[in-house]
Amino acid sequence: MHKTDMHKSGIILFISSLLMTLNACSDAGTGQAQSSQSTSAPVDNTMPAFNTTATIRDVMNTLVDPQADALWNSVRFEVDENGSREMRPETDEDWMALRRAAVAIIEGGNSLMIPGRRVAPPGASTEFPEYEYLPDEVAAKLASDPVSWGGFARGLQSSALDMLQAIEARDADLLSELGAALDTACEDCHSLYWYRTENP
Ligand code: HEC
Repeated sequence: MHKTDMHKSGIILFISSLLMTLNACSDAGTGQAQSSQSTSAPVDNTMPAFNTTATIRDVMNTLVDPQADALWNSVRFEVDENGSREMRPETDEDWMALRRAAVAIIEGGNSLMIPGRRVAPPGASTEFPEYEYLPDEVAAKLASDPVSWGGFARGLQSSALDMLQAIEARDADLLSELGAALDTACEDCHSLYWYRTENP
């Protein structure tokens, strides 16, 4: 895809996600549980350029990984001296926190689709270089196949959107079940762009 087209589609996604967030806010206000999956929005050419200071690694460590942990841990077993008990989201605050996590991942997906972002700080390595591509190698793969990358970022968003719907319906069982699909969305991208295939 041409760079300009990618930029434009980034803007479209950005605007549609804004609209989605606004929709979700007004839904919350009226108490209606409904998350819009709509992705079309008019293009606004007067928008300023995106800021891409944060690296892909930053996006993983802020908008994606801790937020996914919050969702994965929403229904869990805790073991202590009194035995084990299942923890589930119960209070309004529990559900609001989960909602923030799902929204952060959806926006993390948009961030991943904005072109021009570095993978990691210049000269950075990776924890297990034998098994993981170095940031420069990731960057080369991304440059050679931005379309699949965008598809994986979309996949991440779509699993977070499903979870957002479960959160809005306050359905803890469904939320817990959807955790597996979220994990698949992470691993689909990692197995192509991050894990060395020479050393599976
Ligand atoms: C569109 C592709 C893509 C998706 C989707 C994705 N990741 Fe990543 N992730 C990457 C890439 C590329 C790296 C390697 C970047 C680097 O060198 O740190 C990475 C690195 C990471 C790291 C290591 C960060 C560090 O400090 O080294 C964590 C943790 C992580 N991802 C978690 C997740 C989780 C959890 C999900 C799903 C909820 C996810 N990722 C979804 C592409 C993706």
